[in-house]
Amino acid sequence: METYKTILTKLDIRRFSSKKIPGELILKILEAARSTGTAFNAQNWRLVLVQETSRLMQLAKDSTRGQWVEDASLAIIVLTDPGEPDNGLDGGRAVQNMQLTAWSFAVGSGLFTILNEDAMRRDFKIPKKMHIAAVVVFGYPERKISGEKKNRKPLSEIVHLDEYGRGFDSKSLS
Ligand SMILES: Cc1cc2nc3c(=O)[nH]c(=O)nc-3n(C[C@H](O)[C@H](O)[C@H](O)COP(=O)(O)O)c2cc1C
Repeated sequence: METYKTILTKLDIRRFSSKKIPGELILKILEAARSTGTAFNAQNWRLVLVQETSRLMQLAKDSTRGQWVEDASLAIIVLTDPGEPDNGLDGGRAVQNMQLTAWSFAVGSGLFTILNEDAMRRDFKIPKKMHIAAVVVFGYPERKISGEKKNRKPLSEIVHLDEYGRGFDSKSLS
């Protein structure tokens, strides 16, 4: 799928079919994370690929707003190094690249950041020195998603022209 169309149609998916994601596509998703640029090229993200059903169930228990992970094909715990400047942005970019790559191959994904941190560190052996940026959850959508119903603010509300507070009218560009 063309990049722009992928961005415009991708929605977060939380209901998945039982179809598993093939290994070659999992590799593409991981490569998308690896290809992501980071501040000073620090490449400080670390990824825990979770595929075992029992582990996905454990992730569901350890989440507080991501119980839907238990039906997924896989999940990726994204860790960043809090000692690196802009690690939050680095993690977010890797998450987005993985989600967009998945969507371009018709695989849905969602993420959660609200979780029981102590339980997740214990159950997945995550070292204290790493920050848990997000858990990204992947699977084929349970039903067909057109991606046409995005709930987003208009450009006029989020774009300012030349300085903060000066109105922007998209018609001026067309
Ligand atoms: C930083 C961040 C944290 C999020 N945390 C959660 C979460 O804990 N649980 C959840 O179900 N979705 C979470 N989401 C997904 C958002 O709810 C979703 O991106 C937003 O509603 C837009 O969804 P849409 O693209 O399908 O319209 C998070 C997204 C971001 C970017």
